[in-house]
Amino acid sequence: VFTLTDGDAAVEDMPELSDGDDDADEDEEQWQWMEEDNQPVTCLFCDRLLSSVPATLQHCTAEHQVNLVDVIRKHTLDDYGYIKMINFIRSTKCDASCLTGLPDAPLPWESEDFLRPVLQDDPLLQTGRAQAAEERARRSEEALSRAMDDLHKLKLLAQGLVLNTETSRSGNLGAVAELREDEDEAYFSSYGHYGIHEEMLKDKVRTESYRDFMYRNPEVFRDKVVLDVGCGTGILSMFAARAGAKKVIAVDQSEIIYQAMDIVRSNQLEDKITLIKGRIEDINLPVEKVDIIISEWMGYFLLFESMLDSVLHARDLYLADGGSVYPDLCNISLAAVGDTQKHQDRIAFWDDVYGFNMACMKKAVVPEAVVEVVKGDTLISEPTVIQTIDCNRVCLSELEFASDFCLKITNTTECTVSNKHIYVMFSTGPQVTKTHWKQTVFLLERPISVQAGEDLKGKITVRKNKKDPRSLLVTFDLRDKKLTYSLQ
Ligand SMILES: C[S@@+](CC[C@H](N)C(=O)[O-])C[C@H]1O[C@@H](n2cnc3c(N)ncnc32)[C@H](O)[C@@H]1O
Ligand SMILES: *[C@@H]1O[C@H](CO)[C@@H](O)[C@H](O)[C@H]1NC(C)=O
Ligand SMILES: *[C@@H]1O[C@H](CO)[C@@H](O)[C@H](O)[C@H]1NC(C)=O
Repeated sequence: VFTLTDGDAAVEDMPELSDGDDDADEDEEQWQWMEEDNQPVTCLFCDRLLSSVPATLQHCTAEHQVNLVDVIRKHTLDDYGYIKMINFIRSTKCDASCLTGLPDAPLPWESEDFLRPVLQDDPLLQTGRAQAAEERARRSEEALSRAMDDLHKLKLLAQGLVLNTETSRSGNLGAVAELREDEDEAYFSSYGHYGIHEEMLKDKVRTESYRDFMYRNPEVFRDKVVLDVGCGTGILSMFAARAGAKKVIAVDQSEIIYQAMDIVRSNQLEDKITLIKGRIEDINLPVEKVDIIISEWMGYFLLFESMLDSVLHARDLYLADGGSVYPDLCNISLAAVGDTQKHQDRIAFWDDVYGFNMACMKKAVVPEAVVEVVKGDTLISEPTVIQTIDCNRVCLSELEFASDFCLKITNTTECTVSNKHIYVMFSTGPQVTKTHWKQTVFLLERPISVQAGEDLKGKITVRKNKKDPRSLLVTFDLRDKKLTYSLQ
């Protein structure tokens, strides 16, 4: 196994640096785009050692009459296709003529064996991802127009006018889409183990809501092409197939998809469901558009994991006009909790630990939001919605937000703040059946006293942690204090 990238994500996911000549010949752009690499490269077809990847590609065109960029375009090779082609050429030592007049399918490098690199640290393999990123940018007009801004930034960067760090998360495709494979490995390996899938499947509130929505709305799914973003064990895809979908495309980057492949076959659904291993942001779908996107992307505090970013990416790229994303509407609510016992146990505890004062630990304890089950009878306010997300309309930037809130206090305390189709919904609130999402609690170091009938006003700000866009920072402005919590 090897990684496809070793470069700086900013440079990698950005388009070529041209001289302002926007009409530059496409291939010309591609040479400049790969100018980053300067390791010696062995030619694919002879023993020549070239100074860089672009020099190698130029050499192949001039000396061997093979334009690799054309070959990639002709066979619409994705990352994996490109890598397999390079390894195929290197391992079979075929000459340049073997690339001309190839059939559309099957390609001679179809076998997974060609994913194994023939040369160690083959510089030609380091560019695969860059090419895929460019393809992606091409396909998404919106991304392309934003890429123009990045082009401008890149020019400034080249002139030494801005610091590299300022552009390292350019916002071109969004922080999650731009995560490098190695940066995101921990996230996807967490979904590789069966345990987390067992927990999700056994969460009946969650899984039965998806099932009921699909089974009770067969007219929504009949003969439709459905995309399941992050299919895991394939459960939602199988619900959709049973609900009458014509075709379901199920995508997951995690190793669990190999189980999903067996599961789909064991249930004789392989004609309906196509499984693809890969990040939705990186792969090519076998269809241009889909009628419906289904996904279970919800994290703790709804937005933790930032997986909704990937669903929006898929929506903007693949959803047909008039298509729908399900689930569609989501609310995040906040409520006040007055649980003196809990507060004692988590905060006052540190004042006297076996006779020692560990109060300084509170500074570490308080800023971490706690995911746990809150007892419904400890609520001391009505819940208030702080954000509504409509998955068919929301855009990426709206997933970071600030919202003023007003909590209607119902109990007096000395106390803590926390937080036409058939319609199917579920709640993860503390007063209904608990789910694996539990609740997210933001502890106050010092409890606030409130009176029944009082309005407790404040502001909540939710943003991604710049260092890890899958985790969140939540800030409360409450009674002239600013409190920031991390959720990780
Ligand atoms: C919360 S699980 C849901 C699994 C399954 N749909 C279910 O309901 O049981 C989310 C899954 O999405 C996958 N995933 C998250 N982001 C993804 C992305 N950008 N591309 C492909 N798969 C992704 C994860 O690997 C994980 O298996
Ligand atoms: C979500 O919040 C909106 C107000 O923003 C409210 O109208 C709607 O009923 C809420 N939905 C649910 C399911 O609570
Ligand atoms: C709040 O008041 C209600 C009604 O008086 C009571 O049943 C409930 O136990 C109280 N909750 C707390 C946390 O004090």
